[in-house]
Amino acid sequence: MSITYLADTREFHLRNGQISYILGVHDDGTLGHLAFGPALAPGRSYAHLVPRRFAGFANRVGDPVALEYPTTGTGDYRVPALEVELADGSGVLQLVYASHRIVAGKPVVPIGGGRLPVTYVEADDEADTLEVTLIDESSGLTVELSYTIFRDLPLVARSARIRNAGGATVRLTAVMSATLDLPDARWDFVQLSGTWAREAHVTARTLRPGRQSVGSDRGASSHQHNPFIALRRPTTTEAAGEAYGFSLIYSGNFVAEAEVDPFETTRVRIGISPNTFAWTLEPGEAFTTPEAILAFSDSGLGAMSDALHRLYRERLARGRWRDRPRPILINNWEATYFAFDEAKLLEIATAARDLGVELFVLDDGWFGSRDDDTTSLGDWFVDRRKLPAGIAGVASKVEALGLRFGLWIEPEMVSERSRLFEAHPDWAVGVPGRPRTESRQQLVLDMSRQEVVDHLFGVLSEVLASAPISYVKWDMNRTLTEPFSVGLPSDRQGEFFHRHILGLYDLYARLTTAFPEILFESCAGGGGRFDPGLLAFAPQAWTSDDTDAIERLGIQWGTSLAYPLSAMGAHVAAVPNHQTGRRTPIDTRAAVAFFGVFGYELDPTALDELDRQAIVAQVAFYKAHRDLLQRGRFVRLLGPFEGDGNRVAWMVVAPDASRAIVGFYQALNHPVPSAARLRLRGLDPARVYRVSGWPSAEDPLFIDNTGARGGDELMSVGLSLGAHRHEADKWGDFRAWVFVLDGS
Ligand code: DGJ
Repeated sequence: MSITYLADTREFHLRNGQISYILGVHDDGTLGHLAFGPALAPGRSYAHLVPRRFAGFANRVGDPVALEYPTTGTGDYRVPALEVELADGSGVLQLVYASHRIVAGKPVVPIGGGRLPVTYVEADDEADTLEVTLIDESSGLTVELSYTIFRDLPLVARSARIRNAGGATVRLTAVMSATLDLPDARWDFVQLSGTWAREAHVTARTLRPGRQSVGSDRGASSHQHNPFIALRRPTTTEAAGEAYGFSLIYSGNFVAEAEVDPFETTRVRIGISPNTFAWTLEPGEAFTTPEAILAFSDSGLGAMSDALHRLYRERLARGRWRDRPRPILINNWEATYFAFDEAKLLEIATAARDLGVELFVLDDGWFGSRDDDTTSLGDWFVDRRKLPAGIAGVASKVEALGLRFGLWIEPEMVSERSRLFEAHPDWAVGVPGRPRTESRQQLVLDMSRQEVVDHLFGVLSEVLASAPISYVKWDMNRTLTEPFSVGLPSDRQGEFFHRHILGLYDLYARLTTAFPEILFESCAGGGGRFDPGLLAFAPQAWTSDDTDAIERLGIQWGTSLAYPLSAMGAHVAAVPNHQTGRRTPIDTRAAVAFFGVFGYELDPTALDELDRQAIVAQVAFYKAHRDLLQRGRFVRLLGPFEGDGNRVAWMVVAPDASRAIVGFYQALNHPVPSAARLRLRGLDPARVYRVSGWPSAEDPLFIDNTGARGGDELMSVGLSLGAHRHEADKWGDFRAWVFVLDGS
């Protein structure tokens, strides 16, 4: 891996064995983009790849100029990276190259204290970083662009820092983390979209002239759109073809947008949503954008995801739990909702312990006087009616059973019916004198205010220090409305949303630093804030409130486009399922949840003997394969968003390809199924694998598929999925089969 500078042609070449990212200074001093894609030979000039002078769009024929950080007002009408209002009311900048530096590794950015979470390295030989400074001479505004190339990953981490080195105030109205100019428009725009309980569904559309975008202005990255998009060729598959991934390490309002111009080039931009943003920079002040990750693959979407998984699992997640095996948990939410007492919790914990579960999580309803969702958020003291011995009492009893104890909190919220709201009504987000919109009967605390963050750190630290708490589920159940902070002057209200997220990150940083042994899991009514920003603090997230196994196939498939299995909380829930009313076999539920951070969301005291035995076997299976399931390479095989989506398959493979586990799922059973085969990927063609089936080796589908099989055969011929057609009448709907491949 290296970053080289060709002084003659003023070009920078960031290169590792997999990719090249090349930029250069145009004749007029602007910073141009030359190429991002497969690794190109070092030491050569690529300046001829794009026009070096930009003459405005009006009479152009041919390719428009490609820029690294475009601005407005000089004839480039495509979406800009930066929009400003200067002191004279104008917004025209002439950003030209001023200087650069190349450093080994990646400059350290401590977490919290108003800073954004970013990726990092543990040794300088893991990455190199280029920083290029551009300057607008007449205003004194400077832009420092940062590019980190990692040694072993086909991606670049980018961010921008805007500094007001002039003498007058500047207002920033759009500041992207990155733009990327691509020389053609033959791409499909892939997004992860949905809503509550239907998150991260993969949607793709062909790029058309004009702008197409996803984003959020809700104050959270949102259930509706994830801060991730991909561009893939129409012919690109999971295993072949070109794809670019764009991912934003941020939990608030964002935009991810592609614009196709009249010359059929494409500009992509990703960053904080300009719709809800304005930031004032006084002389001497600077603003730093969130980090964006730009990944490239010429071997399909799978390799793009794999790169993001490795980066986020190993060099974004932090703390002691980053590399530790994650415990199998049981959560009481769907078992009891708000109606529990200590005895009921201990019954659940005891039954769960007997099944082999490792962690008991007490969900919503333990504090204030919260018997439903109309009250008490903000009152983080225990409800002695339900838990007379307090959190310490129940936690130590759970520990005495041999389980760890975890606790649910929702720090950023306040109920109108709460002591906190009575004492500090102005701490809730809203415009004084106007009604506040409630959602789930709750309001949002203004995290842009230091005193609110300080208060939350104080009360939550007390709770977490008061008992043996090993895990925290950090929920967030509504988005923001009436955005306004009484803590900000009227001309700075545009800063509210971003300052709110900075306050959230600060609280996360302080709590995770003060309690380094606690495993934090983030949650926002399920996957409403499943984003890289929070993964920096909480290495796992509750993927969705939808616990139905069939629905989860789509949600987990989509989430895996950008996020690793070690981040995806996935639980077996009771049937009929609480979100869909569907009844699926208990082993199907487990076979889906295995591909994530595994747990249970049911009442184990209400199980019949068959389900009890099934769970004992599931827990034993997950424990035996946990390292592979949480840290193996995830390979998507057969997608729920392709064709009729009836059959889905995926697998995890050990880094050395010595072992693998395959999940194959069928929603509806059809008579006389076709004699399909499932080709695996990522195996070692030279190895022989012992293939076995779970849960029941006697299942007809396993008969032809168990025994010794070559990796070459499994990848080029595949597993047989339909050999026993006459048995299909016994399969029934919602079935799953798990294949274990051992080649060690
Ligand atoms: C939403 C979460 O996603 C659920 O798991 C549960 O914790 C509820 N909130 C509790 O209010």
